[in-house]
Amino acid sequence: MEFNIAVIPGDGIGPEIIAEARKVLDRIGEKYGHRFNYTELLMGGASIDVFGEPLTKETLEAAKKSDSVLLGAVGGDVGKSNWYSLPPHLRPEVGLLAIRKGLNLFANIRPAVLFDELKGACPLKQEFVGDGFDFVVVRELTGGIYFGPRRTEQVDGIRKATDTLVYDENEIRRIAKCAFEIAMKRRKKVCSVDKANVLDSSRLWRQVTKEVSADYPEVELTDMLVDNCAMQLVKNPGQFDVILTENMFGDILSDEASMITGSIGMLASASLGEGRLGLYEPIHGSAPDIAGQNKANPIATILSAAMMLRYSFDLATEADCIENAVKAVLKKSYRTIDIMSEDMTLVGTSQMGDLIVKEISGE
Ligand code: IPM
Ligand code: MG
Repeated sequence: MEFNIAVIPGDGIGPEIIAEARKVLDRIGEKYGHRFNYTELLMGGASIDVFGEPLTKETLEAAKKSDSVLLGAVGGDVGKSNWYSLPPHLRPEVGLLAIRKGLNLFANIRPAVLFDELKGACPLKQEFVGDGFDFVVVRELTGGIYFGPRRTEQVDGIRKATDTLVYDENEIRRIAKCAFEIAMKRRKKVCSVDKANVLDSSRLWRQVTKEVSADYPEVELTDMLVDNCAMQLVKNPGQFDVILTENMFGDILSDEASMITGSIGMLASASLGEGRLGLYEPIHGSAPDIAGQNKANPIATILSAAMMLRYSFDLATEADCIENAVKAVLKKSYRTIDIMSEDMTLVGTSQMGDLIVKEISGE
């Protein structure tokens, strides 16, 4: 089969990690008889440098026409980069928010898995981790406080800033459905996280999620307050299967989730909408401090490419092949610096990509 992939390398380590994911996709294409055509697009700081804005209309249109989008990372060093002296609506991250909204990718899927091979990197005490954990954060991505009305003003000489957290029932229903569908393919548990003891938007969230759950009698639904969830994640992460939550809670909890895996450089994510087109990206940032040094871990991006094959292109065998190759390379003790430990073999970004390609080839 033939697929047209929009590739957005982005900023910082983005171009290096994307290069490795492309190597892997090309090898998969050869092995299974597919053709992946790439269109490179600029977004974030890279787009600001060329076009003066983080996402042009033309880039968004090109992404819309693709079968799926593979993204490296966007953004720079807030303290050092000139991008951050621009007005807020022209900064790199705005490109990311605009492409999510522009492609209507309302569901952000962020798996948090404790890889057997990397158990030692988990910062939690063994007694809290038990047999490990494997859960997915399903984060609402195009609503809530990220997209509600905001303004900064002076009222009677006092500076005042307002952000608004808005959800309507349709937005809640579609993301809840998505979480239940995912749970059906997993351990059939959804924990919906909100702040219903304080926020109206959370009380509506709770009601609508309960209504949706009626269509999924096999799935157990529980509700949890977000502050408690933050605590439970470090106390007993093994209890979670699917965590369903709104945009900002999901942003915060998914960072916490990635941290307890001890391997933020390993975690992939997918942003999905109604159709097949998705945006796939590692959950880590652009790490400008190590950009261009062949130090970045390309595995999260490679696993994001695997998610793209699985969710957008329905190529489960090919996705499995990539995931197994990653595990095999880890088993052979190869590590990039972020996951390095005693007695392991340190490799750089491109070497890690090559090792995974070799494994896919069965060499
Ligand atoms: C993420 C990031 C983004 C977000 C930023 C870069 C706008 O933190 O993808 O989690 O908050 O959604
Ligand atoms: Mg975040």
